[in-house]
Amino acid sequence: MTVQAAATPGAQGCGDCHGAAFAGWRASAHAAAATNPLYRAGFRVEPRRFCVDCHTSAGARAEEGIGCSSCHVDPASAPPTTTAASGHPLALRARADLRDPALCRDCHEFATPAFEGGALRMTDLPMQRTYSEWLAYRDAGGRETCQSCHMPGGDHTMRGARDVELLRGSLAVIASADARGPRLTLASVGVGHAFPSGDLFRHLTVEVRPAGDPQEDAWRVVDRMGRTFETRLDGKTLQAYKVETADTVLVPGTPRVVRLPPIRGELVWRVRYHYGSERDERRGLVPAEALFVTLATGTVGQSRRCEPRPSAGQGASPWAACPAFSRARSRRLRAELSVGSRATAALYSRSASR
Ligand code: HEC
Ligand code: HEC
Ligand code: HEC
Ligand code: HEC
Ligand code: HEC
Repeated sequence: MTVQAAATPGAQGCGDCHGAAFAGWRASAHAAAATNPLYRAGFRVEPRRFCVDCHTSAGARAEEGIGCSSCHVDPASAPPTTTAASGHPLALRARADLRDPALCRDCHEFATPAFEGGALRMTDLPMQRTYSEWLAYRDAGGRETCQSCHMPGGDHTMRGARDVELLRGSLAVIASADARGPRLTLASVGVGHAFPSGDLFRHLTVEVRPAGDPQEDAWRVVDRMGRTFETRLDGKTLQAYKVETADTVLVPGTPRVVRLPPIRGELVWRVRYHYGSERDERRGLVPAEALFVTLATGTVGQSRRCEPRPSAGQGASPWAACPAFSRARSRRLRAELSVGSRATAALYSRSASR
């Protein structure tokens, strides 16, 4: 290669020659890793060097977040230089390494730290474990990689939970009723790890209210999918430590049935995705629209997202109006569901220790 060194350091410098990658990256969560409101609020409560080290690229300006060099500079090429003799600005990772999920593991899998008298010690409670969750999905027969799902055609936007359309398409909900009353069946669709994954506070709530009571405070949470933590005090050392007290995330291939209260009359339900914890929502440091989004809603017995319509014509599927349950979609769902829960059971049922 005979290209000249970038005059400007950082992502913009690479972007001068790699416009498409730069444009995608700039719209990505990676570019906003150090500036998004939820991170800033979290960092305000717990301002640790540890956070900065992972939410920004070494050597770049903090506002840049996870820049090009975090993923592209070959860590073996120490020290990284912007004027490599070969002509290209930096010694780059080989393509095969770029496509390996191990690249993503570096930041998307880590333990919960304990800070003892200022010193950082890693506990064995996973703080994020998207990579292990992906390994379980793969071991159960899943064939996609982080890159094949998150970077179709090399797209650096890396859509994830902040993309509401993708998020809504990732959850299938079927409302039904039997002798014991109304119920919802929830399953993740096309997700190669737990749902939710990523940040430890992310969770889903299933909420209901009587159809005749449209007040916002009539909603009741009847189930929660996510991880739950508690801070305890070690009686001997008097150090505070975190334990995981529940883990109810949705696992690929394992639908979850949620029983709804059998009330007289119709029940309205909704499923919400929460980006932060219940505490974040009480604290009010972050605007509501950055904290949760409604993924699906309906009335029991006639879910709005997937209500079958009488067939419009010969051969037309009654599910045609329901994207989540079109024929192709339900075939895909069945394939997903058959990715079995054998290998995943062990991982997800593990009760965390500290
Ligand atoms: C002066 C222009 C220029 C700058 C600045 C530049 N590149 Fe490149 N880059 C190129 C050219 C030209 C190629 C070769 C294109 C090809 O092989 O198709 C290339 C190739 C690449 C490739 C593909 C390598 C492969 O294995 O196929 C990557 C990844 C890359 N650059 C990343 C970066 C990063 C990250 C930066 C900033 C640190 C950067 N580039 C800065 C011009 C530039
Ligand atoms: C979070 C990791 C990550 C970040 C950040 C990142 N990239 Fe990439 N990039 C990748 C991966 C992974 C691939 C390989 C995709 C593939 O081959 O399927 C890639 C591929 C590329 C390619 C080759 C594209 C092609 O198809 O030939 C270029 C050029 C590139 N990146 C430039 C950049 C630039 C410029 C930035 C910053 C503006 C950047 N990347 C930021 C992970 C990243
Ligand atoms: C089979 C496709 C698929 C694979 C494989 C996959 N993802 Fe995802 N991922 C998704 C979809 C779809 C979403 C959006 C729904 C959601 O938020 O879970 C998502 C969401 C995420 C999120 C947002 C957190 C959240 O709320 O769930 C992160 C972070 C993430 N993926 C990282 C990764 C990493 C890292 C890997 C590899 C170790 C990976 N993904 C593998 C499809 C995939
Ligand atoms: C250098 C660390 C680092 C590497 C390497 C990295 N990520 Fe990330 N990633 C982050 C951080 C930090 C965030 C959170 C940004 C924020 O604050 O929202 C993130 C966010 C994401 C999101 C958005 C999650 C959401 O909630 O929507 C996806 C998707 C994602 N990463 C996928 C990947 C994939 C795929 C790879 C590997 C190709 C990868 N990341 C490599 C640090 C990294
Ligand atoms: C080893 C890497 C690493 C460390 C250390 C780390 N994070 Fe993160 N963080 C991530 C990744 C990867 C994500 C993306 C997962 C997701 O979007 O769900 C993320 C996501 C977040 C989010 C959610 C952002 C969003 O847009 O929804 C917050 C808030 C956050 N981190 C705060 C912190 C704070 C505060 C610290 C320090 C106490 C910290 N992180 C330490 C890697 C890290």
